[in-house]
Amino acid sequence: MIKTIEISQLRIGMYLHALPGNWTSHPFLRNRFLITAEEDIRKITDAGFSRLEIDTEKGADVHVASQDGGGENKAAPTAHGSSVTLAPVTFTETPASLSDELARAKVLISQAERLVRDLAQDVRLGKLVELDRVEPVVEGIVGSILRNPNALLVLLQLKKKDDYTFLHSVGVCALLTAFCRSVGLSAETTYHAGLGGLLHDIGKASIPDEILNKPGRLTEAEFDVIKTHPEAGHAMLARVPGLSPIALDITLRHHERCDGNGYPGALPGPEISELAKMAAIVDVYDAITSERCYHRGMTPANALAKMLEWSKVQLSDEHVRAFIRCIGIFPSGSLVRLASGRLGVVVEQNSENLLKPTVNVFFNVKSNTYIKPERIDLASSGAAEHERIMCAENPQRWKVEPHRFVEVGQMT
Ligand SMILES: [Fe+2]
Repeated sequence: MIKTIEISQLRIGMYLHALPGNWTSHPFLRNRFLITAEEDIRKITDAGFSRLEIDTEKGADVHVASQDGGGENKAAPTAHGSSVTLAPVTFTETPASLSDELARAKVLISQAERLVRDLAQDVRLGKLVELDRVEPVVEGIVGSILRNPNALLVLLQLKKKDDYTFLHSVGVCALLTAFCRSVGLSAETTYHAGLGGLLHDIGKASIPDEILNKPGRLTEAEFDVIKTHPEAGHAMLARVPGLSPIALDITLRHHERCDGNGYPGALPGPEISELAKMAAIVDVYDAITSERCYHRGMTPANALAKMLEWSKVQLSDEHVRAFIRCIGIFPSGSLVRLASGRLGVVVEQNSENLLKPTVNVFFNVKSNTYIKPERIDLASSGAAEHERIMCAENPQRWKVEPHRFVEVGQMT
């Protein structure tokens, strides 16, 4: 039940349903969330709101909140019967080591993949996308990227031979979040772009599987069907209360191209928003580096080189270059060959020198054997000259499994 209350009645444990005005007029990234800390109440009070709406089905009611509301981050029931702890996302995440963040990132990827799969099923049945289910997952991804972007990006890069359909949305969400952060966009914009990234292909749920996953070339008629997905997705999401215009714009415009040859609007470059241009770049990058039933994924380095070519006409040149500065010339999760003949997986970037990331070496191409894994920071003074990167490699060529060596000393 939705109730309007005075700000003085707001307590931890209540579920905020709506603040007056739109999401840009208050200090939170979302309009609706569980009040989990006194800090949330203080922020709402400081923002000058005197009344607000709560949802008593998702959180505590006025007369019980004072008894139920305990300390910070108290868990409360959600509309789905589970118990979760939610808090507004901020840009105050504490940086985390790669090994600490990897464990969280693994869980986040499986949660997000399951969510995208469930949402596709729901919209096929004519159900509305429930923002309450999407927001905590996006918050988790944004938080992980802010703590250490390498963890999610390494794992997602190495999972690209798995199920593309749903992982692609998770990949676009994580990459777009990292991209927004790296070009200095605000917390709100980054969060809503991440949300748009996760939902951008929701319209594909309306496309028959035999067309969507057809091995081989699509006929013109089949491609015309594929081209309906941005507008179909936009129509599905436009019915979702509280969804930001940013997420809607990304959904509708991620296939527009700067030369006016995109779809659905064939918009010329100047009429495409910056975020839609960024989403297009991330979408293309994730697609061409993924293994599909009808093509082998490119190495990340080759994909970026290809995208620089396309940036002359189709993709925004300025944004492609910014994207490369964000993910590196040899992105995290790439397999690279060192001058010494060793193969390694890139696990961390060096923002000062994109040619010298940190690499976990594990294979010697000269002896064609696995070697004792070792982590090498190519920028460190201790790294010998012969340890520079010679080229990107495709794992299939050497029949190696880089995902086993993301955590040195913890091979599985
Ligand atoms: Fe798409």
